Amino acid sequence: MCGIVGYIGTQAATEILISGLERLEYRGYDSAGIATVLEGKLECVKAKGKLYNLREKLEHTVNHAQIGIGHTRWATHGKPEEHNAHPHLDSDTKVAVVQNGIIENYRELREELTSKGIEFSSETDTEVIPHLISQYLTNSNITLLEAVQKTITRLEGAFAIAVISADHPYELIVARQQAPITLGFGQGEFFCASDVTALLPHTHAVLTLENSEIARLTPLGVEIYTFAGERVSRFPRTLDWNPGQVEKQGFRHYMLKEIHEQPGVVRSSLETYLNPNWHADENPNFSPINLGLSSQLHENTDYIQIVACGTSWHASLIGKYLLEQLAGIPTTVDYASEYRYSPKPVIPNTLTIGVTQSGETADTIAALEMEQARRSKLDSKFQPQLLAITNRPESTIGQLCNHIINTQAGIEIGVAATKTFIAQVLGFYYLALDLAYHRKTLSNERITEIIDGLHHIPDSIEKTLETQDHAIEELAHEFTQETEDFIFIGRGINFPIALEGALKLKEISYIHAEAYPAGEMKHGPIALLDHKVPVVAVAMPGSVYEKVISNAQEAKARDARLIGVTSAMNATEAGTTFDDVLTVPEVEELLSPILAVIPLQLLSYHIAAIKGLDVDQPRNLAKSVTVE
Ligand code: M6R
Repeated sequence: MCGIVGYIGTQAATEILISGLERLEYRGYDSAGIATVLEGKLECVKAKGKLYNLREKLEHTVNHAQIGIGHTRWATHGKPEEHNAHPHLDSDTKVAVVQNGIIENYRELREELTSKGIEFSSETDTEVIPHLISQYLTNSNITLLEAVQKTITRLEGAFAIAVISADHPYELIVARQQAPITLGFGQGEFFCASDVTALLPHTHAVLTLENSEIARLTPLGVEIYTFAGERVSRFPRTLDWNPGQVEKQGFRHYMLKEIHEQPGVVRSSLETYLNPNWHADENPNFSPINLGLSSQLHENTDYIQIVACGTSWHASLIGKYLLEQLAGIPTTVDYASEYRYSPKPVIPNTLTIGVTQSGETADTIAALEMEQARRSKLDSKFQPQLLAITNRPESTIGQLCNHIINTQAGIEIGVAATKTFIAQVLGFYYLALDLAYHRKTLSNERITEIIDGLHHIPDSIEKTLETQDHAIEELAHEFTQETEDFIFIGRGINFPIALEGALKLKEISYIHAEAYPAGEMKHGPIALLDHKVPVVAVAMPGSVYEKVISNAQEAKARDARLIGVTSAMNATEAGTTFDDVLTVPEVEELLSPILAVIPLQLLSYHIAAIKGLDVDQPRNLAKSVTVE
């Protein structure tokens, strides 16, 4: 949420900043700006709206500055207008600041500064920062680093900032408090960015600042200190990503590319986590799953609680089903934003799982931190066991949790999560199977059967993409003009897939969509139905198939247009109920969510694309939600 980029070195900064912001635009895209310093003068250019507006403004200017900061904004305080865009400056146009996060005590600080005669030019929380820095620089004979350090002690909230000053043309100061920021190390040049995607074209040597750390970047190197001023010795790590991963590679949108990457994501995930040497009748002490979890965790977990948001919450609901049905462990799933303020009573021997593709979602992080803090005070059987299921093991959640399942889906740029969802769901299959194996809640034969089924999934996704993509695109045309509402229904392990289908549709097509457990329709939502409201039923063969079909019939009796997602084997029979049938290859019910979600991803994608909407950067959203 909000993208920060900074550069100091020997090249012209402007293009590096703008192309860095282009790679971060998925984090926020309602306004953008850059500030540079050249020959003791600070220059700042901002534009409302998408980044191309800023690029256009800069097109006819030449700027040789070799230091600068840039920002792409997702508005929190103050409307998305040019005057609220970052960077924000002090009154003398000497200090420029970009910020990600929220300064919670900005009102008091603003009042204090206003009473000293300072005039503000924005409604943002950020603007207090350059004014404070400027005051410290003017009133005491201190360095820029010291002035930023002093300023930070006045700030409450979660933030990452980058600061430059006209009077300190060879220094870029970067600080982190609960919001991510990473430094990049080049040859005589250094970078900062709120996500490594912006650094990839320049360097693979990166170092993520930890909370309460501040860095001073100069053309000669990087110094890192704690907020208290103690020097810290840290070494960069090497990223094994390649810049191609963040290109569209011929697809019209990142989302479509990422949908098509799913067979590969599943294949490589299975290779990583399924043990090829495991055979049901041999190696009794040798798990079929390579998660590296401790025997203490296998044996002593009596209760599991999961916190997550959005699509990760949907993956968690599937996780709950698997953990309870396969491993027999009572499991709850909460929205992280709710859990924080109404936590469950503290139960002994609890595993707490945070699920987040970005690893930075503020609510999820805060819920886990709260859990860790309250349990740490208690005796040993209450001690926190925190497991992260994330696509970014190097992120904040990775640093917080003592166990990690790395979903390894590769970078996901589209704001609508697709491949990371599938990868999270797989993470839950592994965890449930691993626990089931060690706790002997499933026979080895059943485990083998499930694993065999998992091995078929990549081919089945490929087949679904091949057979359904075009057909769904055709179908999508019918919903792009007049359809204002959609209903999704599902039951059992596929109710979360109905939720996910509805979320995908609303976030990128702006069509209102709701999902219900199919059996709940008659308790109220059925009143919404008429011929204008299509109903999508996830009707995968298995224990609840007949029930879902009956619930779909109830919708049909109210004139709803019925779309069914089912197995190809069932297509003919399902055709007697549904107006349109979207099929996936035959699959056992337990594994069916991984396939059933694919047609729903395609349906929402094609509806949004045909409507000409900005599929990868839908309005009001951001990929990484780092504010609470
Ligand atoms: O990074 P996270 O998985 O924690 O993100 C959680 C949600 O913000 C995210 O899933 C959001 O709902 C997506 N835009 C869904 O497509």
